Amino acid sequence: MSKKNYYITTPIYYPSGKPHMGHAYSSIIADVIARFKRIDGFSVHFLTGTDEHGLKIQREAKKNNKDPKIFCDEISATFKSLAKILNLSNNDFIRTTEDRHYKSVKDIWQKLEQSGDIYLDKYSGWYSVSDEAYYDNDEIEEKNGSKISKISGSKVEWVEEESYFFKLSAWQNKLLKFYNDNPNFILPSSRKNEVVNFVKKGLKDLSVSRTSFTWGIPVPSNKKHVIYVWLDALTNYISALNYPAVENKLYVNFWPADVHIIGKDILRFHAIYWPAFLMAAKLKPPKRVYGHGWILSDDKKMSKSLGNILDPIEIIKNFGVDQLRYYLIKEVSLGNDGSISLINLKNCINNDLANNYGNLCQRVFSFLQKNNSSKIPKPDKFEKEDKILIDELIIKLPKLRKLVDEQDLNSYVKEVISLSFNSNKYFNDLEPWKLKKTNLKRMNTVLYCILNQIRSISILLYPIMPRSIEKTFKIMNQKNSDILLDKIKDFNFLKPDSSINKTDILFKKIDSD
Ligand code: MSP
Repeated sequence: MSKKNYYITTPIYYPSGKPHMGHAYSSIIADVIARFKRIDGFSVHFLTGTDEHGLKIQREAKKNNKDPKIFCDEISATFKSLAKILNLSNNDFIRTTEDRHYKSVKDIWQKLEQSGDIYLDKYSGWYSVSDEAYYDNDEIEEKNGSKISKISGSKVEWVEEESYFFKLSAWQNKLLKFYNDNPNFILPSSRKNEVVNFVKKGLKDLSVSRTSFTWGIPVPSNKKHVIYVWLDALTNYISALNYPAVENKLYVNFWPADVHIIGKDILRFHAIYWPAFLMAAKLKPPKRVYGHGWILSDDKKMSKSLGNILDPIEIIKNFGVDQLRYYLIKEVSLGNDGSISLINLKNCINNDLANNYGNLCQRVFSFLQKNNSSKIPKPDKFEKEDKILIDELIIKLPKLRKLVDEQDLNSYVKEVISLSFNSNKYFNDLEPWKLKKTNLKRMNTVLYCILNQIRSISILLYPIMPRSIEKTFKIMNQKNSDILLDKIKDFNFLKPDSSINKTDILFKKIDSD
């Protein structure tokens, strides 16, 4: 049977400075979903990368006295290394300075020219280099003597230059129809309303080339112009599938993308410009754009001046990668802004990982070592309590799948950790240490049930904490290739009399001073 395909992407990051928690967050979300879909039998293509052109990068390189390409090589490498540190399972890492991407962007440009969607004129208006975005007069305000964007708060500058325009205005009704026909294209739905209202107000044509700097992909028919960095960047999602070769396997299997994971700040580009560009080029728009919320540090936006920046690499060094992955997914409800702090991180590690899931594994494995020579026991007849425990998990499976398909990872993790809590309670209530003296057969059944439960919960936790779950599987003498959702239904999977391995502490408790 051929596998179902699933394509998921992160935003491609500006290599303008050190990777931070916001970048880590977008990437972890995408990785959790990619891993979940893989263990659910999908053939997954997971893409991340760096967005290397535009004035922002050109200026940053100049500030550092570097040629822009060399500057990008260096910083893009730090994003690649962050992907390793975060244990991302990406299939590809695209850089917009690669040849394959140039080919693809040039082709899209030509398609837009051929369809009559591009014309030459002059742009005069506001531009934010930090957002690489154009703003209208009514989106600008004055603060401390500078003009800033009301939307992002970043500084804007006045631009007047010859520019090609994309006829975005002509796509207004088609976009509204597209949103209407595809009600789940923009999630969460609160964000969808923002976009729809914005489009309803009327769309202006979009400047899609610049002449006042050179760091970009030249317009094929007019080398004086470089292509607007967002038209360039968005195309990464198909250049990584070898577009314009639309008959190649990658493109055929994976386009349109199932979901682009992005932050809410870049929704306009993904939910308005991107489908309009694609429709104009007679290509299919992606199936979904999910705009996650903002991560705040102690309730405030992270900034150098406030000194509240949480560095993902530092946190991973101190607490571990799975601990950070788990915490971000558990703590921040995906669609909303969420505050994170070191204190909450420590509490989360102690409560959910050390005291709940970790403790469940530890006590069951140690009990088995002491009382059953590390051997998986043979179960006898299952009783009502056993069935309740087993059924709870199996019954929840469709709901858990649905939560991931709706990108509600926060609820997913809460459901899974409650299963672990209930398993701990089952172990406490049935007191196998007492059964050892009174009813060995029953003790064996309880142990068999709880071991199976650990296996199943571990499979469900794998997308969030792959490294730790591989450790649990190793202790249980199970193959990593059996970390599959379908195996959860196979209750006779653990072989009686096979041994479990020596146990290490999975999650250390942290002093929460
Ligand atoms: N290069 C563009 C994306 C192009 S995609 C075709 C870009 N890059 S970025 O490096 O500035 O940001 C990348 C992602 O990080 C965005 O999704 C943004 O929302 C996310 N975050 C940056 N800071 C963040 C937080 N503090 N919290 C959560 N995510 C935020 O935009």
